[in-house]
Amino acid sequence: MTVPALPLGLLRDRLGEARSRTLELVAPLSDSDVTRQHNPLMSPIVWDLGHIAHFEEVWLLENIAGAGSGAEGLRGIYDAFRHPRATRDRLPLPDRATCLAYLADVRRAVLRRMDRIDPRADTPLLRGAYVFNMVLQHEYQHNETILQTLQLMEGKPYAGIGGKPYAGLGGNWCGVGQGNEPQADDMVHFPGGDVFVGTDDRSQAYDNERPRTRLRVEPFRIDRHPVDNGAFMDFIAAGGYRTDAHWSKAGLAWRAGERAEAPLFWFRRDGVWWTRAMGGEVPVDPALPVCHVSWYEADAFARRAGKRLPTEAEWEVAASWDPVRERAVLYPWGDEPATPTHANLDAVRSGPARPGSHPGNVSPLGCYGMIGDVWEWTASRFLPYPGFQAFPYREYSEVFFGDEYRVLRGGSWATRPGAIRNTFRNWDFPQRRQIFSGFRCASDAKS
Ligand code: AVJ
Ligand code: FE
Repeated sequence: MTVPALPLGLLRDRLGEARSRTLELVAPLSDSDVTRQHNPLMSPIVWDLGHIAHFEEVWLLENIAGAGSGAEGLRGIYDAFRHPRATRDRLPLPDRATCLAYLADVRRAVLRRMDRIDPRADTPLLRGAYVFNMVLQHEYQHNETILQTLQLMEGKPYAGIGGKPYAGLGGNWCGVGQGNEPQADDMVHFPGGDVFVGTDDRSQAYDNERPRTRLRVEPFRIDRHPVDNGAFMDFIAAGGYRTDAHWSKAGLAWRAGERAEAPLFWFRRDGVWWTRAMGGEVPVDPALPVCHVSWYEADAFARRAGKRLPTEAEWEVAASWDPVRERAVLYPWGDEPATPTHANLDAVRSGPARPGSHPGNVSPLGCYGMIGDVWEWTASRFLPYPGFQAFPYREYSEVFFGDEYRVLRGGSWATRPGAIRNTFRNWDFPQRRQIFSGFRCASDAKS
């Protein structure tokens, strides 16, 4: 059997593009902004930088080539398991200049090494360029992590990637009147049936997305659009946070501990809701998807509406299932890879966009905005699919499986297009809301 040749030129271009974005993200930040720990939930940004280099060194030099760059002294520092985020500011972290040099050194060695890779080499890591795609997605994911940190950073507004102000700041107004504005209680109906979820892809997909599984899904309804700020303000105004009956037991304990009365970053000014967004302050736009809510808040909202959160399988069916062709598409719009034209991704804006901004971002079943804008909480715990096999390392997925985490789907405005697809599974604790998290609701239906 012949092996498809590794597209080494394309991979070099993608590695270069990923690195440009990382560098542009941190370029406008002061030395203190990149060194300080802004919040115990997030690493100092210099940790992310060094860790991106270290991950690339481990996977593209040591594990495929058996050679490190020589930066041995740094290795222990970037082990995410040895050092939880909250303690990373106590590590002897190299400064920005040292991290940038480390990133460049590793990359130089990787590119040199790539010149000598046999494009037909066939090992589990190289097949389908898996290890390169994994390293790329790792850098993409840490770019979103850095944006979460910037959202938490107090002080002056973030100047934007490469110092370019966001398209979204003050200009987040487009596309209404294209016939797909949310209607109250507009839900899509799935009559139930046998579907496929997950994937057998071994080139881009993570181990937790495999294997593809045939599943019977009972009839359900799911919101056509993510829940917007207007609906969430109604929930608050109606006493949603004070009505214990809407809240799970764990949710009540979280609400009390957190004294939560609104999504993270919201505050009242002159009798209306405002929010902090990337260090700026803007009135809450009722038309935008709600962002920075915990799973508990999403669950309480859904209960008050007489609904519930969708399961992962329901979410994936709503995003991917094409009932005519009886197959799943890779993205809501089809199989073409995501771009910021398809969906609100890639930090082109500083936050979620108005519905209608991406009229083609609609799934075969008719759900809008499943990819981009906000990560959507699902009802599901982060568990392996039947037949799961850890690859290439247990610490990406397997060690997180269990009852503690809830799954989020679909990516956010801050997600790089190469790090999202219909089968992609993200996870976090149900109390977390520093992530760009929103939701849509579902309910049982009769066929
Ligand atoms: C998949 C987003 C939960 O940030 O903890 C980054 C991604 N894994 N480096 C995380 C990840 C290793 C992961 N999430
Ligand atoms: Fe990482």
